[in-house]
Amino acid sequence: MYRARLFSVHFFYLLCMEKHALITGAAKRIGKALANHLAKNGWSIAIHYNHSSKEAETLKEELLHKYPTRKFYTVKADLSNMKEVQKLIPNVIKQMGSISLLINNASIFEASEIKETTPELFTRNMQINFTAPFFLTRDFAGSSVHGLIINFVDTRVTTNKNSHAAYSLAKKSLWELTKMTAYEFGPEIRANAIAPGVTLPPPGGNDSDLMKMAKHIPMQKPSGIEPILKSVDYIIDNDHLTGQLLFCDGGENIGKL
Ligand SMILES: NC(=O)c1ccc[n+]([C@@H]2O[C@H](COP(=O)([O-])OP(=O)(O)OC[C@H]3O[C@@H](n4cnc5c(N)ncnc54)[C@H](OP(=O)(O)O)[C@@H]3O)[C@@H](O)[C@H]2O)c1
Repeated sequence: MYRARLFSVHFFYLLCMEKHALITGAAKRIGKALANHLAKNGWSIAIHYNHSSKEAETLKEELLHKYPTRKFYTVKADLSNMKEVQKLIPNVIKQMGSISLLINNASIFEASEIKETTPELFTRNMQINFTAPFFLTRDFAGSSVHGLIINFVDTRVTTNKNSHAAYSLAKKSLWELTKMTAYEFGPEIRANAIAPGVTLPPPGGNDSDLMKMAKHIPMQKPSGIEPILKSVDYIIDNDHLTGQLLFCDGGENIGKL
């Protein structure tokens, strides 16, 4: 009897759940592709940005033009600033009414082996890549009856490659947080992670470096963004999937050639 009631309450919430997503770092690159893809699939979106205000506004206008009945907002927050991190979810809820999907995509990727890492670089990488998602997770779980979190980590979480030591440690921590979130907040909140590999050149980088790197992975070419979008769809559609990591890395996690 109790179980039947629990099931019907759960089912009621699922039916009522509005398709409102917050994507961090959504103005450009993978974040922008995620926003376009989710909008195509019926989602309203809060487009988070820090410096890319023009790109975020343009994206918002394009989405409003294509899907005029939906809600699209831009929201600025510097994720290196804890005050701004803690205002982000309340601000989005004020605008949209609710959020049912949080995608922690925003990131910085700074090269530095352990021996040359300064406290400032370490703190910056941990703050933006791990601490901010941690507190966005806390605030999302505290304000959503039902929902899903997708954390963007990196195929490097399986290795001890030290070229970007603080970044990699932050992404390893984010993967651990994903499992802990699934454990603490299920069944109402699901949490999963996606680990891209050789996808896009870093901002300012070039395609030929990317091709060179990709030669050494089993699929021998960069993944592009499409496999990431398919993984997002799979995670959204599979309502029993939680605490899992999907690699979109052309097999890099199983070893390089
Ligand atoms: N690209 C790849 O090949 C690759 C490989 C492995 C993993 N990944 C992961 O996939 C995700 C997306 O990758 P990407 O290459 O598209 O990311 P990206 O371009 O390097 O960064 C995405 C956004 O993060 C935002 N960001 C950076 N610092 C911020 C801060 N202090 N406050 C708020 N936002 C900040 C920036 O927003 P503004 O521009 O508005 O400042 C930026 O546009 C990341 O989590 C990345 O680690 C990517």
